[in-house]
Amino acid sequence: MYIYEGKNYEDVSERAAMVIAAEMMLKPDLVLGLATGSSPVGMYKKLVQWHREGKLDFSQATSVNLDEYKGLGGDHDQSYRYFMNDNLFNHVNIDKEKTHVPNGLEPDADKACAAYNALLDGVGKVDVQVLGLGGNGHIGFNEPDERFTTRTHCVRLEESTIQANARFFASAEEVPTQAYTMGIGDIMSARKIIVIATGEQKAKALYDTICGPVTPRVPGSVLQLHSQVAVFADAAALSLVKEKR
Ligand code: GLP
Repeated sequence: MYIYEGKNYEDVSERAAMVIAAEMMLKPDLVLGLATGSSPVGMYKKLVQWHREGKLDFSQATSVNLDEYKGLGGDHDQSYRYFMNDNLFNHVNIDKEKTHVPNGLEPDADKACAAYNALLDGVGKVDVQVLGLGGNGHIGFNEPDERFTTRTHCVRLEESTIQANARFFASAEEVPTQAYTMGIGDIMSARKIIVIATGEQKAKALYDTICGPVTPRVPGSVLQLHSQVAVFADAAALSLVKEKR
């Protein structure tokens, strides 16, 4: 696992964006696996900047997002579809028809998950998957569990996740309690994976992810079994890794 310690959030974001940019230049029709949350926002800003400067062309790219809140449509400002449009898709020349997020408005979970799995199968291997890390070690919305779930599924969000994400909503009561997420198998089948984590609130999750036992209790720990993972983090997020390693 490659670990880059950045000076600050901007540095970390730029490094992560460099990986995406390099991959896109080598393979313009690549499949990007994208994430939401505050961690990748700076990386998206960089990508938008480089696109505006004429350095990056998204016209042939396809994207698949990790997850979506069940019950939120793309016009809800806290849906992950809205987030992606707002932070990236509206500002680059990607074909929106080739950007994919699970359908939060499909109330039938089996249908929603089967449709997303079929879509993932059709799109083919993700070339580079971006991940943030939940404070409890979740990736996408794969919450700590007794087992790893391979494919897209509907999850009940942990109370800690609801509280963590409440900052984006008017109140914790408004945070959806369920979400559709790609499974661990979907994430692990990406050719390359980059993880972005900054701030001391991620230190424990990052330590457990990188150095702890591989266990579904810390979903991110499964990344130890992937041969092409790069972690972009700041000193605060890496503090426990550095102390205990
Ligand atoms: C959310 C998302 C994850 C994200 C995580 C961390 O729950 N489903 O994909 O990585 O939280 O978010 P943040 O980057 O805001 O800390």
